[in-house]
Amino acid sequence: MGVTDQRAFSGGLVDLKQGLISRDIFASQEIYEKELERVFARSWLFVGHESQVPNNFDFILSRMGEESVILNRDKNGKLHVFLNSCRHRGMRVCRYDEGNSRTFVCPYHAWGYSDEGKLAGVPKLESGYHNELDRDQWGLIEARLANYHGYLFACWDEETPDFDTYLGDLKFYFDDYCELPDGTHGEWEAFGGTFKWRLACNWKFGAENFCGDYYHNPSHASVDQVILTPAGEPGRHTYDVVTEARDLWKLNVSIRPEGHGARGELFKDDYDYHPTYQNMAVVEDWFRDCFHKRREKLGEKSRWYGHGGTIFPNVSYSNGVQSMGTWHPVSAHETEIWRIFLVPKAAPDEVKDVLRHYVIRYQGPSGLTEQDDMENWLYAHEGARGTISRRYPYNYEMGMGYEQKGWPVDWLGGEVVATEDVSEQNQRAFYGNWAKLMDQPA
Ligand code: FES
Ligand SMILES: [Fe+2]
Repeated sequence: MGVTDQRAFSGGLVDLKQGLISRDIFASQEIYEKELERVFARSWLFVGHESQVPNNFDFILSRMGEESVILNRDKNGKLHVFLNSCRHRGMRVCRYDEGNSRTFVCPYHAWGYSDEGKLAGVPKLESGYHNELDRDQWGLIEARLANYHGYLFACWDEETPDFDTYLGDLKFYFDDYCELPDGTHGEWEAFGGTFKWRLACNWKFGAENFCGDYYHNPSHASVDQVILTPAGEPGRHTYDVVTEARDLWKLNVSIRPEGHGARGELFKDDYDYHPTYQNMAVVEDWFRDCFHKRREKLGEKSRWYGHGGTIFPNVSYSNGVQSMGTWHPVSAHETEIWRIFLVPKAAPDEVKDVLRHYVIRYQGPSGLTEQDDMENWLYAHEGARGTISRRYPYNYEMGMGYEQKGWPVDWLGGEVVATEDVSEQNQRAFYGNWAKLMDQPA
């Protein structure tokens, strides 16, 4: 029986015809275990940015699903993602969050692996294994790796299509995120390590929120009143100060069948740069210059101003603060959030400083906006677990039947489904792919 057939209401756990989703998908450990197999082990998962391992032999630890992986750069500069589990008894072969190493020697019995994951050294190879251990068969388990403009994704499943195909029509929107403010694909650099913290809620609350939730502003009322942006005016988004630029505000873009979602707005054709960084001439000049270069390079397409989105299943990108936030599953009831922040590598120090301070105020465990969100997800998760509350499905009806393909401009992409103003179409696309994968046994 498929996972969507188990509930009393029509359509099962995920009923996209009625816009209903069972609370069980957030709180059932049994469903969670199935997700690890059917969603995480089959999907392209974000593992890091290449600027986190700039030199040969650099490595960081990352995660895929619940499991620890090593992202490293070998002696030839090639990037790898290895399962951080010794082939002998499974001990972590690397226990450091980051470093530079030519080998990964297991602390348990000292099997040693090379920078390319080969099993190079085995104690007692002669006296214990009588030279019969075939070391070629016992290297580290390696994942497929895709380097998308420096953003690194890995996948365990050979049958999953390549990353470009997997992105589908999100390509335009994720490309926009990967571009520097001047519209070129130059270098970003991650700074300050990785924020890591745990939250007692299911991983899907964060993923679906960033995927398309343009409707939860009431919960950010307090941060909307303080000066959070670098502009020196009340607001929390860099775009709050450019309201006169908007042609269409709040575009949800759902990507089917892949289940990704993007959010953004369209600027007016004749919009010109709005002075934003008061009293910071270097920063102001840099962003104004970028604005004009981007317009020249992208033409009409520069009207798109992305706010963020979620790449199915569990990484959310945010424009403006240029962050990648990964919702790592820990259990049905716990998520470990990892968030990295990036700045344009060639930007003046003053620009990097402004962006760095902004993201610390805005996102991550210290970020006032993210704190509002975390409070919502904690209590929403409590609501998914309650003896009585879990009997009642969540409502995902908003905008159902009002999706319009390719609207309002044809260059937004072929299979894009967009509505003006708010809609829960992105969340429905996300859970549509989730349900499809969950219904397919390995
Ligand atoms: S577990 Fe790694 S050498 Fe034994
Ligand atoms: Fe939010």
